Amino acid sequence: MAVLLQLSDVRKSFDEGTTRRTVLDGVAATIDAGAFVVLMGRSGAGKSTLLNLISGIDRPDSGRIQYNDTDLTTLSDTERTRFRRSEIGFVFQSLNLIPTLTVAENIALPLELSGQSDTATDRVAHLLDRVGLPDRGDSYPDRLSGGEQQRVAIARALAHHPLLILADEPTGSLDYETGTQVLRLLTDLVDEHDTTLLIATHDQQLAQQADRTLTLHNGLLHDGPLSAILAA
Ligand SMILES: Nc1ncnc2c1ncn2[C@@H]1O[C@H](COP(=O)(O)OP(=O)(O)OP(=O)(O)O)[C@@H](O)[C@H]1O
Ligand SMILES: [Mg+2]
Repeated sequence: MAVLLQLSDVRKSFDEGTTRRTVLDGVAATIDAGAFVVLMGRSGAGKSTLLNLISGIDRPDSGRIQYNDTDLTTLSDTERTRFRRSEIGFVFQSLNLIPTLTVAENIALPLELSGQSDTATDRVAHLLDRVGLPDRGDSYPDRLSGGEQQRVAIARALAHHPLLILADEPTGSLDYETGTQVLRLLTDLVDEHDTTLLIATHDQQLAQQADRTLTLHNGLLHDGPLSAILAA
């Protein structure tokens, strides 16, 4: 298996009043291309922080984040933005759909940002179909239910054929049934293209479907579930 992502000694802390809170205290991991990995850990453990570093939204205090041949920590802000737009699909916990754009325009956005707008119409129609919303392209996000918006967010994350999908608790705001459907949709779509999938979640069942569970605990990243770490 080819390695897609290699994290070495990644550290990140935040100012909190007069002190600094260390969230990531030397995180290391190797993630293979095409793997389906869940990222677990208690609330506040640093899952969103880590996803933001891997996507290049934020940068670590120190350490290396190697994506294929590129060390993200050596890139400028502009280069990281370009990297994110071409390589990464991000499903945010808060969805982040743009309210003034239609559903179709939201899904087309990554294509425009990565210079693929000529293929946008066909791609958007295909994705709307795949996520079960073929006739909602002209709707605005606030006209859609939470689960429908979540499916649009997934379609948008996949639009530009990213190699790596990062999803931050993508079903956090959904009922169990809808959440399960949305996750199945995401894993099916990702399977079709051999995309690498890293999902931050509290969902044990999802962890069982994954190739691998990584858990953040006390600033370090461990292989396996929290129960195994606490028992060790
Ligand atoms: N920009 C920031 N400034 C200050 N502190 C931050 C910032 N971002 C995150 N933190 C702190 O880092 C810690 C980890 O936050 P993070 O959002 O990564 O946790 P999480 O594992 O995603 O939790 P949850 O499961 O609740 O989403 C928290 O204590 C949070 O307060
Ligand atoms: Mg989080």
